Amino acid sequence: MMDHKEIKQLVARSAVDALVRSGMKLGLGTGSTAIPAVHYIGELLQQGKLHNILAVPTSFQTVIACEQWGIPLYTLNSREIGGELDLTIDGADEVDPRNYCTKGGGGALLVEKIVAYASKSYAIVVDESKVVQNLGLKFPVPVEVIPEARLPVQRALEALGAEVQLREAVRKAGPVITEHANLILDIRFPAPIDPAELEGRINEIPGVVENGLFTRKHPVVFIGHADGSVETRP
Ligand code: 5RP
Repeated sequence: MMDHKEIKQLVARSAVDALVRSGMKLGLGTGSTAIPAVHYIGELLQQGKLHNILAVPTSFQTVIACEQWGIPLYTLNSREIGGELDLTIDGADEVDPRNYCTKGGGGALLVEKIVAYASKSYAIVVDESKVVQNLGLKFPVPVEVIPEARLPVQRALEALGAEVQLREAVRKAGPVITEHANLILDIRFPAPIDPAELEGRINEIPGVVENGLFTRKHPVVFIGHADGSVETRP
């Protein structure tokens, strides 16, 4: 049986082999499952098996991984990218039976969503522990908030039935500050939610920048299993 790290590598490589082709404009995700995909793309570039890849990263973590592997970096606004990507590969914290996802465990939900929604194709790579029946019950849904709006947004989320927790930093006193200088409120629901409806409703609250429900860009989901198999869910 494979351990968690091995499953993540397996599923990341499997998605890259299935979907990444030379000449593509790629969105590259964040987290311990997406980064092995970045490393593998770097390896294939160095071996000459892939060429002419243009990458748009979703976080500082991804920028650094691309720099390590010499993967050419652009932004969505670069002339070469023109605001649209061929494919984005990213991880997720939870995936439900409709392939709706919760993302943002690594705090990169804002750019992850911008990049995903600007891609023609979208692939999610997860190990089997991420597959759930209902989003938001086990793993919290992150909400990125302008610091000045922390308390009013908390009240509005509580009015939607959520339990709200300000995300605390590790090895820094106080809250997590995102890459765009905002705070994250992690919210949980005591009963199943309607992710598609909630994705829009949360973003209507003044002061919310983005939330970690991803329901408006249908991904193909690659699920890695401990027995070494990879399931593809279209
Ligand atoms: C970061 C993310 C990640 O994709 C998500 O948290 C999954 O991470 P991992 O593969 O490390 O479990 O959304 O903001």
